[in-house]
Amino acid sequence: MNRGIVNVGVIGTGMIGSLHAGILSSRINGARVVAVMDVDQDRAAAVAADCDGARVYSDAEALIKAADVDAVLIASPDAFHAEGALACIAAGKPVLCEKPMATARADAECILRAEMGAGRRLVQVGFMREYDRAHRALVDLLGSGEIGRALRFRGIHMNPFRSEYASIDTAIVNSLIHDIHSARFMMGAEIAEVFARWVPANPKDARSARYAIIHISFDGGAIGTLEWSGDSGYGYEVEVEITGERGTAGTSSNHSPILRQGSTRSQAISPDWPERFYDAYVEELAAWIGSVMRGGAAGPSAWDGYMSLAVAEACIKSSESSQPERVIGMERPAMY
Ligand SMILES: NC(=O)c1ccc[n+]([C@@H]2O[C@H](COP(=O)([O-])OP(=O)(O)OC[C@H]3O[C@@H](n4cnc5c(N)ncnc54)[C@H](O)[C@@H]3O)[C@@H](O)[C@H]2O)c1
Repeated sequence: MNRGIVNVGVIGTGMIGSLHAGILSSRINGARVVAVMDVDQDRAAAVAADCDGARVYSDAEALIKAADVDAVLIASPDAFHAEGALACIAAGKPVLCEKPMATARADAECILRAEMGAGRRLVQVGFMREYDRAHRALVDLLGSGEIGRALRFRGIHMNPFRSEYASIDTAIVNSLIHDIHSARFMMGAEIAEVFARWVPANPKDARSARYAIIHISFDGGAIGTLEWSGDSGYGYEVEVEITGERGTAGTSSNHSPILRQGSTRSQAISPDWPERFYDAYVEELAAWIGSVMRGGAAGPSAWDGYMSLAVAEACIKSSESSQPERVIGMERPAMY
């Protein structure tokens, strides 16, 4: 690292990779994007041009090993996260790995063990809701004791229509994983048991997913639900509500004015995730660069990446068995 500047290499320059690269280049003091890699070289070149002429790589491993790359941001498709994170740990480089950290619990465990072998935290997982002002305010309120012990968690995650409906497996591992992590970090407890129910998007394909509800039970006795839609029909919305012994509190994330006009009362809803969570991505990246400057990683950890996949695995098992399923994890290692 040179004169307090963190040189970042970005792997995957699609929707979120290009957003992260743009924020790092323009909004984060002390960060510079020096290398980008994508299997679509034209896309990588376009993002590089916006990052003060960063070098374009065709090979992720070469970018990770480049001598002037201090830290790596992985924003390639889910299936490539685990191998990228492992290569970063092997190279001793801090990595911000987009969610999910892997696509299976066993691969997440390899990352956890590799990081423990390295003896220090290098991995931050892209669970950016931890940096969202509305989520943080609710966590602070719970921490203040205002509503007492938390009894019930309710997560709402509505997506706008995508060109293809996800399978229930993809909905869980790629999208509901955000809600699984939110439930764990906001309630401060691990999820012990899950029961997945869903409505197929296509009645002829039972594993296609339009709307899902996951019932969850936490260690310590609290309960909750994670509600997810692959096509809300109205836009993008993420909300959390927590009921405690002395009241119920929820996130308030919609700051648009309430408009009364023509015999209606209306309020805008974000069209999609980049608009709803833009400020959280900025906060996330600022925190990541700060922790890299201090020599490691902070924020959502490889443990969070591992446990969220352990819960996701139980959800998929429940979707197959039509029964509640226990979450199979491991003892939390001392390093986390
Ligand atoms: N934290 C969040 O809120 C959030 C939001 C969106 C996406 N994501 C995650 O980020 C990742 C990317 O999502 P996206 O929406 O940007 O997808 P995307 O399809 O827009 O972009 C993926 C990019 O990766 C490239 N790519 C494909 N194979 C590659 C490989 N082997 N190595 C390098 N690049 C490769 C593609 O060419 C494409 O440019 C996903 O894992 C997704 O789960 C996280």
